[in-house]
Amino acid sequence: MSQGSAVRVSVIGCGYLGAVHAAALATLGHEVVGLDVDQDKIALLAQGEAPFFEPGLAESLRTGVQTGKLRFSTDFSAARGCQVHFLAVGTPQLRGSQAADLSFIHAATESLIPYLRPGDVVVGKSTVPVGTARELADKIASAVPGAVLAWNPEFLREGFAVEDTLHPDRIVYGLPADEDEAEAAKAALDQLYAEPLASGCPLIVTDYQTAELVKVAANSFLATKISFINAMAEISEVVGADVTKLADAIGHDQRIGRKFLNAGVGFGGGCLPKDIRAFQARADELGVGRSVGFLNEVDAINLRRRERVVELVLTNLGDYQRKRVAVLGLAFKPESDDVRDSPALDVAVRLHGLGVDVVATDPQAIANARRLHPQLDFAATAEEALSGAEAVVLVTEWQQYQKFDPQLARGLVANPVVIDGRNCLDAASWRAAGWTYFGMGR
Ligand code: UDX
Repeated sequence: MSQGSAVRVSVIGCGYLGAVHAAALATLGHEVVGLDVDQDKIALLAQGEAPFFEPGLAESLRTGVQTGKLRFSTDFSAARGCQVHFLAVGTPQLRGSQAADLSFIHAATESLIPYLRPGDVVVGKSTVPVGTARELADKIASAVPGAVLAWNPEFLREGFAVEDTLHPDRIVYGLPADEDEAEAAKAALDQLYAEPLASGCPLIVTDYQTAELVKVAANSFLATKISFINAMAEISEVVGADVTKLADAIGHDQRIGRKFLNAGVGFGGGCLPKDIRAFQARADELGVGRSVGFLNEVDAINLRRRERVVELVLTNLGDYQRKRVAVLGLAFKPESDDVRDSPALDVAVRLHGLGVDVVATDPQAIANARRLHPQLDFAATAEEALSGAEAVVLVTEWQQYQKFDPQLARGLVANPVVIDGRNCLDAASWRAAGWTYFGMGR
């Protein structure tokens, strides 16, 4: 039921995607209830507190909760009476397989069904293998005739999630084949996204399959771009070229563009790695595995970069057993506390496993890293991590690490060797301060 232009919405799944989406919809003026099975998470959210670090999220949650536009619950019956229901649960990599685990999205749909009414619109946001929407639509239609499903992939980047959700660079609707159903779903989504659409955000209206593919295709393209430049880094290392200059030069070509051409320790996070693997797995099932066979190579190049960083550290330490190494960064990227498939955390864990005395730090991700790898030593600050280190490895390009004064850093370490796993330090000033500097592919 809508009041004016406000829509009553439920958002199922309050993780990195759903919590931000719920808060953003409330900011846009809608009446939102966020649902999740995790009681601790819901308890925090209900008080207007963010359960993870994401710039701008805490403010937006607080405002939503204070104005009453935003509520959270573990009781799915709170979805009753909402007109639009978002499915925003995770689709992580299945243990022991490359494929995506769809158990959460099926469970979320089943938990929602008892509270759906004819005319309600269920909207999938999660990243899913192509064909999933059709299956969920059938499940919903057979339980609640007249309830429809639309697919509306999310493209938010962690670290910019609130901004990306409020000001998306495009909106995609995957609509049912039936014209009346498609019209009903489109009308509900248009009302929901009235503000971004009015400000000129491009809208692409399509079928389920295309909408599902748009998301995995976008992430595959980005992953391929990063692995392409990392492959150039491997070549540059052999011939003594500088991959950063190479990226600048090819990036000036408008057809190529400079974005996502930063060579380094590679991509990680909750999306890119598992999405390319799940895409390959789904394509194999469909008999078109060869079409995306290159994604296996994209993945392999990416993982080799982590080995390369480890190799650089070991080579510099000589006898590396029990030598102290400072690892700067644990999150998979700056402005995030997310350590899912983080190259930074992986480097720390690999070094530790080889007998190196690792001291790792991160401005936001220590708690998450410690939960997964309590065997690591953590320091609260970069200064503390650097103290007495025989080598320093920078693996997440947080601003504060980039701005670290090389002179000051020189005074803290036992041995001035820095491995810049993100090519983000000014090599000349670090060298001038007496450091032996290694970048990736330069
Ligand atoms: C990504 C997509 O960008 C987003 O649209 C989608 O919805 C979810 O997946 P995210 O995982 O937040 O978003 O991170 P992104 O900014 O894309 O970076 C992914 C990884 O690539 C990070 O580990 C980052 O450090 C790495 N990266 C990025 C590079 O190594 N080099 C680059 O040039 C750019």
